[in-house]
Amino acid sequence: MSQLWDIVQHLIDPLIFLVLASTYLPGTIYSLVVTANSQTLLSLSLFKDAWFARFWAVQGPLTRQNASVNAGPLIQLAYGTVLEIGPGSGEWVHLYDKSQVSKVYGVEPNKDHHEGLRRKIKEAGLSDIYEIVPVGVEEMGEKWVTRGEVDCVVTVSASFLPSEGAFLLGGWAGGEYGTDMK
Ligand SMILES: C[S@@+](CC[C@H](N)C(=O)[O-])C[C@H]1O[C@@H](n2cnc3c(N)ncnc32)[C@H](O)[C@@H]1O
Repeated sequence: MSQLWDIVQHLIDPLIFLVLASTYLPGTIYSLVVTANSQTLLSLSLFKDAWFARFWAVQGPLTRQNASVNAGPLIQLAYGTVLEIGPGSGEWVHLYDKSQVSKVYGVEPNKDHHEGLRRKIKEAGLSDIYEIVPVGVEEMGEKWVTRGEVDCVVTVSASFLPSEGAFLLGGWAGGEYGTDMK
């Protein structure tokens, strides 16, 4: 019975998520209109970013509350050079242990998250070691960090990752994981 409930919940949760996200559409449009941000209004990808950032500013902290039991202890184990994929507005950055982590690259293509992310980095006292990488992980190349240089990969709520993105991660950490993912 509990297994059946589990399945039903996994089917319903994405629908609730979509309905919730759609309630942020009118507010996003309104704020872009009053700020006369026609560039974002006329670009589907910029509009999606603005919409998601607005939604995640509220949903991110709630999601963190639910995911903290599992994700929190793992993030606290991160050490050395860390690649954080899709940090959003930085809900998890306060968990990095500064005595273990020497550098964090936060790969976040949505620029609408950057202000919030920068704020959380500062609050966590990580400004000197946390660098925002403003592209998708699949576009990183080796401009910021080279293959094999990454000790840990951190990513939470990353269902967005394209399969080639998951493949890339194995390469960054210098392991064979990515090969299996493909
Ligand atoms: C569901 S949010 C999760 C944010 C954050 N990890 C959290 O738990 O609060 C997914 C994040 O991944 C980012 N993202 C989407 N595509 C990406 C890509 N190709 N590479 C890196 N990040 C990406 C989004 O912009 C968004 O901030």
